[in-house]
Amino acid sequence: MREVIVRDAVFTLESEGDGEPILFIHGFPLDRTMWRSQVVGLKGWSRVAPDLRGFGLSDVPASGWTMADHADDLVALLEQAGAGRAVVCGLSMGGYVALEMVRRHPGKVRALILANTRGEADSAEGKQQRDKTIESVRDRGPATLVDSMLLKLLSPKTAKDQPAIVDHVRSMINETSTEGALAAIVGLRDRKDSTDLLSNIKLPTLVIAGEDDAIIPVEVQRGLTRIPGARFEVIAGAGHLSPLEQPEAFNRVVANFLSSIR
Ligand code: MLT
Repeated sequence: MREVIVRDAVFTLESEGDGEPILFIHGFPLDRTMWRSQVVGLKGWSRVAPDLRGFGLSDVPASGWTMADHADDLVALLEQAGAGRAVVCGLSMGGYVALEMVRRHPGKVRALILANTRGEADSAEGKQQRDKTIESVRDRGPATLVDSMLLKLLSPKTAKDQPAIVDHVRSMINETSTEGALAAIVGLRDRKDSTDLLSNIKLPTLVIAGEDDAIIPVEVQRGLTRIPGARFEVIAGAGHLSPLEQPEAFNRVVANFLSSIR
């Protein structure tokens, strides 16, 4: 684990291995540790997993931020590490950020892995729901997100059989600061629609869905295959957090994809 300063903020990141970089971008309201099995397991690449601004051990800037800020932070982190282009792997909010990297910094992305995510912006109803969540986080802090999200993030099978994963997810949510969660929800609510971008993406792409994802249904995730040539994989027994819930299956499909782009 190390700290890096870019764009006036301190970021904590984990990195392991040598070779071409893969950048792992976590979801909301989580942190870099959700990628532990990928950082340990995907040998042959330089695996980099940062905490985004506002999450984990990274700074929580007072000014708020957008998906574009996350994208610019990550490109600055890669530049500081001397990395040219990276394979970019984002889960859910991390996928929104990955698409923003493609939009803003296309030359920095070597290939895309989009897990448990979608291209659409929030609907009007979705934005209203975000506003309610903002009120509730203001009142009760991240504990309200444990109540509203924890079981939705995981497949029923994980919730029943994998108490260590349930505890890990609970602690990532609880350790998110109130300020970080509030700013992030505004960023999620106001993010751009990326569906217009999809058919113009010319990168090797792998889309990974969780069979039991209660937050972004498989059929919505399939919409990302509008990216020409995108592969689509559905992970059995996984909910919204497929890399954490089914790490072996997740790493297998990612390793196959990576060997196809070498
Ligand atoms: C995530 O897992 O990053 C969030 O569920 C994304 C969202 O709320 O849109």
